Amino acid sequence: MDDPNLLVGLESGDDAGVYKLSDELAIIQTIDFITPIVDDPYIFGQIAAVNSLSDVYTMGGKPITAMNVVCFPTKTQDISVLGEILRGGLDKLREAGTALVGGHSIEDPELKYGLSVTGVVHPANLITKEGAQIGDKLIITKPLGTGIVSTALKGGKAGEEAVAHITASMITLNKIASELMIEAGAHACTDITGFGLLGHACGMIENSMVGIKINIAAIPVFPEVRGFAEMGLVPGGTHRNREFRFNMIEQANMIGDDIWNILFDPQTSGGLLISISSADADTLLENLHRHGIEDAAIIGEVIEEPRGVITVQE
Ligand code: CO
Ligand code: CO
Ligand code: CO
Repeated sequence: MDDPNLLVGLESGDDAGVYKLSDELAIIQTIDFITPIVDDPYIFGQIAAVNSLSDVYTMGGKPITAMNVVCFPTKTQDISVLGEILRGGLDKLREAGTALVGGHSIEDPELKYGLSVTGVVHPANLITKEGAQIGDKLIITKPLGTGIVSTALKGGKAGEEAVAHITASMITLNKIASELMIEAGAHACTDITGFGLLGHACGMIENSMVGIKINIAAIPVFPEVRGFAEMGLVPGGTHRNREFRFNMIEQANMIGDDIWNILFDPQTSGGLLISISSADADTLLENLHRHGIEDAAIIGEVIEEPRGVITVQE
């Protein structure tokens, strides 16, 4: 239980476990699988793989091996669909420099795909969601709104362009963002997935002595998202996310439901939320932009008071 080599375990609430093998080497282990979010199986495979690799990048690690996790409805879908999904996953593993070493599949009426990923990190470079310091700036690396746009897609409301925007983002590895954040000396990081921006931001400060201030106007969102949110096209998980964390949120001015629904929108294969000293934040932001992560933005800061609370202002 009190294994001193277990650097990050179950209690910490991080998305991956970290175990120290030597003073120079720790392994990061994580597993994620999801149901289809787009119709094209090749693209879905890529999204699921990028999503599964993300928790290693979030902790500053390099993913080295991975195993497929497959639940496939063999009675209702052609096996060629599975071939396309796995091809998408493999292409992203190649891009990440990660070896596929095995996997497991079962028959299931509902299709699911993802990977169990093992990464490596030097213990000194390990980054977790804890460690944000007063005065830090918060940088987000991808726009918000994949949940809202995919809900619009299911409702027949999202056009090709809207889907293309979220797809391009969801198939982008957090690899470069991760490498740049380590180089820049980030203090803390989490990836933005099912709990939405505010849910994951709450996770960063829940056991800490700091608070966060978020500036809504600075948050990048996909172009179609505000319109869909105003139409009430919101996934089921948003409400749960808001209920779960609303006691940690303070609004500096009145904020409408459509905005809350964006701030708590569950993301698939979302970006990183990085806490970094204000002295290094601008350099990191410039580097992110220069490496093609154009939507990266500073969206808030870490403050002393009120601690344990996220203050949101429009
Ligand atoms: Co995860
Ligand atoms: Co995660
Ligand atoms: Co097996």
